[in-house]
Amino acid sequence: MGMAQPKDQSVDMSVYRDDFPILNGQMNGKPLSYLDSASSAQKPRVVLDAIKTLYEGRYANIHRGLYQYSQETTTAFEAVRSKVAAFIDAPSSDEIIFTRNTTEAINLVAQSWAKANLKRGDEIILSEMEHHANIVPWQLLAKEIDFKIKVVPVTDEGKLSFGGFMSLIGEKTKLVSLVHVSNSLGTINRVDSFIDAVKSFNPDIKVLVDGSQSVVHHQVDVQEIGCDFFAFTGHKIYGPNGVGALWVRGDVLADMPPYQGGGDMIERVSFKDETTFKDGAARFEAGTPAIAEVIALGAAIDYVSDIGMDNIAAHEQVLLAQMTDGLHQIDGLKFYGTAPDKVGVVSFTADWAHISDIAMILDQCGVAVRTGHHCCMPLMERFGIDGTVRASLGLYSNSDDVQALLEGVKKAKEMLS
Ligand SMILES: Cc1ncc(COP(=O)(O)O)c(C=O)c1O
Repeated sequence: MGMAQPKDQSVDMSVYRDDFPILNGQMNGKPLSYLDSASSAQKPRVVLDAIKTLYEGRYANIHRGLYQYSQETTTAFEAVRSKVAAFIDAPSSDEIIFTRNTTEAINLVAQSWAKANLKRGDEIILSEMEHHANIVPWQLLAKEIDFKIKVVPVTDEGKLSFGGFMSLIGEKTKLVSLVHVSNSLGTINRVDSFIDAVKSFNPDIKVLVDGSQSVVHHQVDVQEIGCDFFAFTGHKIYGPNGVGALWVRGDVLADMPPYQGGGDMIERVSFKDETTFKDGAARFEAGTPAIAEVIALGAAIDYVSDIGMDNIAAHEQVLLAQMTDGLHQIDGLKFYGTAPDKVGVVSFTADWAHISDIAMILDQCGVAVRTGHHCCMPLMERFGIDGTVRASLGLYSNSDDVQALLEGVKKAKEMLS
């Protein structure tokens, strides 16, 4: 399914916690238990250092200068393209486009590939589980082009319904865009099976996979998955904000028109003749990119690769079991996302208090969790709720964090019920 299963359960992950300076801090006078990594991960020292080292040492704009600093910074920047390609097993680094984040990556596909290829009456398939980043760009475009958006239903345990998906595929289907791992529920979607099915029906149907949450928790292989577009965001994978990546399969990329115009994406600009554009990924990177952020994303990728995605996955599964078992022993909680294949995310509501009140008490206990709709309003609507309390793990999470959460929820129950 494009994600390797954990193999080495013996690695002591506690050694990595000290790499994250912020985790030694306190919140409301209590040791910080950061359980909001699905929203944004904390940054290891190597990532912070990569930014500082660049600005203090070798900073210059890229692709333009013939002087040493510019050339060295260009080399460092372009090296990250290869790192990203290797990280998700893309066939070529020329197929990696740097974006601001997943949101921009999906908007890019909508405004470039989809705008050029979809027409009135066509159909695209999304799911009830999508983040707004994989809904709203399509709704905006559908208003312009008048194609139809069909929606894969979610089962009670928080899985995409395969039967529901199959019933939506038809002659008019042009694109499928699905989330790999749900940020709200933690469910790992078997996107490879969905892609096999849709490509067997019609190999020309394109598939986008939103990998924002999957690259963080497991090894991803875009070729094994079989998609055409794969998007992820840097800040969830221990990298900085302001950088993400989009992989586009080479033959699809070759025909995509520019998305934004400006410097660096052109071959020749003229008022007399037609302006021409670069080939490949460069055509989609108009203007000065987030140079330091891209380089720091490279440091983050090296960091997690050195630890091993399998080790990270194994560690998170142990803590997930501890967190799930502990929360199940507290009366009155209802859980969303109970499918067995899931990453370190637990989402719940309580029949004894509103989610915001629980989160406020957790805050006082030094426990950072997310409450609300998690940018998945249609999913909340599906379950008939406004939102959940969501605790999510990172590679640095430990049993003390989980314990602090459990104690905090018990305290909230005592105070609020
Ligand atoms: C599944 C999923 N898709 C897309 C996004 C959007 O990421 P960004 O805000 O970095 O573009 C997120 C972030 O929460 C996410 O979890």
